[in-house]
Amino acid sequence: MRIVSKYYTCVFSLPLFLIPLFVGNSAERQRWVAIMTQGEPPSRPPPPAPFSFTPPDGSGLPRLMLNAADWQAAAESVLPRSVYDYYAAGADDRTTLAANPAALAAHRLRPRVLVPVGGTSPATTLLGSSLAAPIVIAPTAMQRMAHPEGEAAVARAAAAAGLPMTLSTMATTSLEGVAAAVPGGGGVRWFQLYVFRGPARATTEALVRRAEAAGYTALVLTADAPVYGNREADVRNGFSLPPGLRLANFMGDAPPQDEEGGAEQGADEEGGAAAAGGGGAIADMDASVAGGSGLAAFGDAMLDADLSTDCIAWLRTLTSLPILVKGVLRADDAAAAMAAGAAGVVVSNHGARQLDGAVTSVMALRGVVEAVKRPPPGGPPPGVVLVDGGFRRGTDVLKALALGADAVLLGRPVLWALAVGGQAGVAALLGSLIDETRRAMMLAGVPSWDRIPPGLVVLPDGRIADDAPVDASGW
Ligand code: GLV
Repeated sequence: MRIVSKYYTCVFSLPLFLIPLFVGNSAERQRWVAIMTQGEPPSRPPPPAPFSFTPPDGSGLPRLMLNAADWQAAAESVLPRSVYDYYAAGADDRTTLAANPAALAAHRLRPRVLVPVGGTSPATTLLGSSLAAPIVIAPTAMQRMAHPEGEAAVARAAAAAGLPMTLSTMATTSLEGVAAAVPGGGGVRWFQLYVFRGPARATTEALVRRAEAAGYTALVLTADAPVYGNREADVRNGFSLPPGLRLANFMGDAPPQDEEGGAEQGADEEGGAAAAGGGGAIADMDASVAGGSGLAAFGDAMLDADLSTDCIAWLRTLTSLPILVKGVLRADDAAAAMAAGAAGVVVSNHGARQLDGAVTSVMALRGVVEAVKRPPPGGPPPGVVLVDGGFRRGTDVLKALALGADAVLLGRPVLWALAVGGQAGVAALLGSLIDETRRAMMLAGVPSWDRIPPGLVVLPDGRIADDAPVDASGW
């Protein structure tokens, strides 16, 4: 009956019984009578209930959390400074950090109208899994800094929303603990991988085997981190893991950190970190070791700066899981990754945390799509293309898919929602983004992902994307 009183008071301001008289033909009249007596038939899932948050500003006034910016502002008010700064960080002068959302905004949509969109669904399939929408949780590190339930809460919320979660190597819950945290083992989980150098290469190998054994269904190989980017806030803050938290995939989770049932890890993992030059202090992100950012110290000790596409072939000797190469911004790199055996790539500038001045992901997307989806004759089979970097709205998801991506990765907003609302916060964020995506599709005349109208996106230079030539060597 809510809809009845809404129409009554806001729209028609007429006595209810008169409304049918103003409505066209008799079939339409009957529909209105049915709506007034029984309510509108549910042609779409109800939008998620908004999450309400009372900030610790003394006002006592609750705020509705409706979008990523709301979550970020609220998270800033609850997180310790050094944790907030670490999650929010961009490299150097943060020009790429600012450019990511600006480039997305500069891409415009040309909606189709009079397209039947009543049954629109944002659902899709990706690497053999069904997704509620083309949205994947990006790998972000150390989620227990945001909330005591950390990665486990994100995994549960993602599984309930029908979206895959990518777990970071740098997690504060072990990969086994995260898998065990989801009731009934549901949900789709991918594992993000750093390839470590020297004796620590054995740690990488162990992580691959453990991820496969724990039911992770894809590996996301980070390719853009031979060294960590220069994040000056972390240096100023002397960023390190807060006491009691550890990088659970390396050192074993000491109780009570891993109450979710994660397996204790063996001495080989610990030995890998120690042999690489830091031992426990490094894996604990002890900034005093480095006199600056504990993450930078970890990277200096562990990351393999000499990786080439050979490491894709090496990983394929260890696992049959599909390998997605993350951090690709060029078509030639994408083609090389595919030729080396990758199943796809993630177009990414690492959330603007690595090379400042790097191009935005949305600018790089079309060239990479061309290389990955339309390989030369005799080349590797076509693969999947994901993209991240400032994607915050349903309209951003729509732009990405109209430009050829299969899905978008969502990073920082998940951390902000986790910090503010734990699992319920992440669930609310994901629910509203799925709803926004569906709404954006309907407003643009896109009933499903295989029916995106040609010419939907206008590039920042004014050309219609579908009409602007792109080849694997250019944009
Ligand atoms: C870790 O990958 C980071 O970017 O901080």
